Amino acid sequence: MLSFSFIQPDDFHLHIRDDVLMHAVLPASAESVGRAVIMPNLTPPITDIAMALAYKARILAALPATTAFQPLMTLYLTEHLSLSTLQEVAITPDILGIKLYPAGATTNSDAGIQALESIYPLLETMEELGIPLLIHGEIPHFDVDMFDREPAFITQQLEPLTRRFPLLRVTLEHITTQDAVQFIESAPAHVGATITPHHLLYNRNHMLAGGVKPHYYCLPILKRERHREALVKAATSGNPKFFAGTDSAPHLQSKKESACGCAGIYNAPYAIALYAEIFDQALDLSLPASQKRFESFMSRHGAQFYGLPLNPTQITLTQTPVAVPIHIDTPLGPLIPIRAGEMVGWKVEKIEER
Ligand code: NCD
Ligand code: ZN
Repeated sequence: MLSFSFIQPDDFHLHIRDDVLMHAVLPASAESVGRAVIMPNLTPPITDIAMALAYKARILAALPATTAFQPLMTLYLTEHLSLSTLQEVAITPDILGIKLYPAGATTNSDAGIQALESIYPLLETMEELGIPLLIHGEIPHFDVDMFDREPAFITQQLEPLTRRFPLLRVTLEHITTQDAVQFIESAPAHVGATITPHHLLYNRNHMLAGGVKPHYYCLPILKRERHREALVKAATSGNPKFFAGTDSAPHLQSKKESACGCAGIYNAPYAIALYAEIFDQALDLSLPASQKRFESFMSRHGAQFYGLPLNPTQITLTQTPVAVPIHIDTPLGPLIPIRAGEMVGWKVEKIEER
């Protein structure tokens, strides 16, 4: 049976929610990744340093005292963010960066940014201070087609923004298109991107052919096959600008299976296994060189991009089939995980010092 060890991965884009739901979903990440970048789109959003530190304390309090898991916090960018807060962020290692949601783009994004021009002074200061800007890259206007929202954002907003602020550190989050891959490839080294397991595994037919499947609905929405292929090529290329960020985004079954279902795929318990499936299919993980490629995407590129040390631990994966339950119970009701009722091909066997 195929088995290999590699540096413990991180998750550079994770929603763990708060309170009861956080207690239900946090262990899956804390038991598999060394660090996770925690998204700030709570209600109310995490808009200042005190809120972020309090949220971090709630996360750590929900874990065993012995946990090595480190939450890397983000602030939700609003037009009210002050320049003095940015100065403080720059010297607060608990906070990794600032998250930009275009207003209306996704879950709890109403407090986001209406017009990028309004935050130019903030971006200028972030550029000077070297604070990363994490971007949900879509134009959420009704007159922009759902499937064109990411490319439209790149050409209409992101390209001009990176020209205006050429040294601004930017992560384009959860990229979904060939257009995004090309943009990142041609951008400077301080502009990178996260890629989710679901956008590497699925295209829009998985969501729409033969019936509407709400558990495949996430934002940015799944695209056509040629875009998925471009993402697989980018993720497995060895290019250090691309790295793992699950965008695991749990919503209760009742909120997903609804006349107006929430966007988000809950993948955290199976994310590493699913990334391994993708790499195995593309590169054959029985080859040591392919295992190294996998380690780079999962465990090195993101840490290098953010200037963090590599995790001091290693993880062992075996090619063992694991059955995914049809639902995962929480005190608030069931969650439906990715691959519910089916199999994943890999299992996290152990995590130890390396
Ligand atoms: C995320 C959520 O539910 O918070 N949903 C999603 O579909 N990815 C928000 C986001 O990252 O867009
Ligand atoms: Zn997200």
